[in-house]
Amino acid sequence: MKKPLAQLALATMIALTSAPAMADADLKKGKKVFKKCRACHTIGEDAKTKIGPILNNVFGATAGTNAEFAGKYSKAMMKKGEEGLVWNEETLNEFLKKPKKFIKKTKMAFAGIKKDGQRENLIAFLKQYSPDAKPAEADEKPAETEEKPAE
Ligand code: HEC
Repeated sequence: MKKPLAQLALATMIALTSAPAMADADLKKGKKVFKKCRACHTIGEDAKTKIGPILNNVFGATAGTNAEFAGKYSKAMMKKGEEGLVWNEETLNEFLKKPKKFIKKTKMAFAGIKKDGQRENLIAFLKQYSPDAKPAEADEKPAETEEKPAE
């Protein structure tokens, strides 16, 4: 009698701890990860163009088209935009993993963020500053990203 109960309790505990833990990105952690970007990028109300463009409303934006950064983009970045690159969870994830692999001649001198979890949190953090960004499924192609719903 004792044993099955204990097993049930254990199974419940596993179910409770593992599932939700990975579901939600952590915005606080994302903010910390953004420190890596702050030397060159700012975000939020008082954001100013620095070495890199302001990252407000980057979701849904075509690469290389921030008007305040016009004339400063690399040819490579603008070409990507002309080819149709739009920033969203998926494209930011690829770019931030290894910028120079995703866009060979980008001017962005940043090695990349290797840890998937860090990128996920960072991207969720960035998204807060793109209030007009629609959920990936809304109007464009059906989301080819992850299964989790866009928040
Ligand atoms: C050493 C400076 C530097 C760092 C660090 C840096 N960036 Fe950049 N970033 C740039 C520059 C410069 C560009 C423009 C690149 C180009 O034109 O090729 C850019 C472009 C971008 C773009 C494309 C914007 C657009 O308008 O198309 C995004 C998105 C971006 N950076 C995000 C980030 C994030 C997130 C981080 C931190 C993980 C980061 N960057 C770190 C300098 C930097």
